[in-house]
Amino acid sequence: MADYSYQSLASMGPQGRWRRVMMVALVPMVFAFIYYSYPSTYIDSSFKSTQYPHTQNVSLPEDDLTMPTIIKALYGPILHPVDAANFTDEDGDVYRLHGEPRFKQKLGKKVLILDIDSRPLAGEGQLMNEGLKWKGMRPLSAGMLSHYMFAKIHGYDYKFIRAPDYADRWGTWVKVPMMKEALKTHEYIVFMDSDVMFHYPHLPLEWLLNYWNMTDDTLAMMSIDPNEPQNYDEKGNRYLNTGFVIARQSKRTQEMYKAWAECPSETRYKGCARWKDDWAHEQAAFGNYLRYDYDRPDDIRVLPCVEANGAPEAAHRGGCKGVFVRHFWIDKGLVAKNLADSVMQYFLPRLHQLYLSGASEHIIDAKGFRLEGAELIELTEEEKEAARKAGANKNQKDEGF
Ligand SMILES: *[C@@H]1O[C@H](CO)[C@@H](O)[C@H](O)[C@H]1NC(C)=O
Ligand SMILES: *[C@@H]1O[C@H](CO)[C@@H](O)[C@H](O)[C@H]1NC(C)=O
Ligand SMILES: *[C@@H]1O[C@H](CO)[C@@H](O)[C@H](O)[C@H]1NC(C)=O
Repeated sequence: MADYSYQSLASMGPQGRWRRVMMVALVPMVFAFIYYSYPSTYIDSSFKSTQYPHTQNVSLPEDDLTMPTIIKALYGPILHPVDAANFTDEDGDVYRLHGEPRFKQKLGKKVLILDIDSRPLAGEGQLMNEGLKWKGMRPLSAGMLSHYMFAKIHGYDYKFIRAPDYADRWGTWVKVPMMKEALKTHEYIVFMDSDVMFHYPHLPLEWLLNYWNMTDDTLAMMSIDPNEPQNYDEKGNRYLNTGFVIARQSKRTQEMYKAWAECPSETRYKGCARWKDDWAHEQAAFGNYLRYDYDRPDDIRVLPCVEANGAPEAAHRGGCKGVFVRHFWIDKGLVAKNLADSVMQYFLPRLHQLYLSGASEHIIDAKGFRLEGAELIELTEEEKEAARKAGANKNQKDEGF
């Protein structure tokens, strides 16, 4: 019974709205009366505003309303511990580490979140355009802003590299030498195409490195592509998707990137020149040559498509639903929506918590009255009992309008 009145008020239909308008008008008159008649029955008294799991204490500088502080205030209290034994996703599925975590400390500026693009991106709705607004924002802008936000949340480094173009190759090739350069200054780099994003910005990269078994010998991690004919290499193995790459600094990693960038010269890999312009470009070069050359057990971690590729909207494509990392090849229009998700999935519980914690001030229980014409008439005790037994939602639909 306790939260019945709250539910019913929240789901009022159009006629209900009129009742609400009337009630608002009556507030000054009946409020005090109702308040004393029904002190704290609006919500369960066991509600203690701990509904959202706080894992960290965060102190914020006073009188500081700058954007970095706002980001810290929203995400700081709920950052998932880097060495947590498990993670529960929004569907309630639990992901557990396979053993002792290797990463127990934050990596901070040792991690570089990297965007690479050779285009000016200065047009309407694009990232470098000062007039960028939510309405009309282009998908790439949403993706890159989400990468930047992820870096800000965890204290990683972030860089956008405006890359030079290759004279003789398809544009996406530039990410290979640019990642190679970035691996000279940072121990770990995370490169994402701009239609790729982390779905849980409060889940640190370190936890994912633990979960995906990053070792000292690992050169790179990439996700496998969906099981579809166009995604197979010449030897019949599925491509690894180069739209999301976690790479680790080492001599061998530098060698691999050098070999990759030089692949089309065919000094080492006969037949690679074809991938200068043919789809899937640098991804096909990696898939057809590099992966077979760098094949020690720990060299390349192949991430499952279900966890690091696709999106729920693409789950019919081989189950690639992007649990941790989403890649919106299915529909670029989803990128902005998911930037919104990565804020709203945290903002909403906080807003809701505030709403419920202030319930005694703004939820008015007028269920102890009956309506007759324009009048609110208090029910007798017997009538109240009968009303309780009759149940909820007379003349209303569940969430209907
Ligand atoms: C936060 O600080 C309070 C008071 O100092 C303490 O009782 C609580 O355990 C802390 N919570 C966490 C998650 O560290
Ligand atoms: C997750 O790990 C914590 C301890 O780190 C444990 O208390 C909790 O029960 C675990 N949750 C699940 C669902 O396994
Ligand atoms: C990590 O190691 C565990 C246990 O050996 C294994 O089940 C899991 O598939 C590995 N994950 C990756 C991404 O290789």
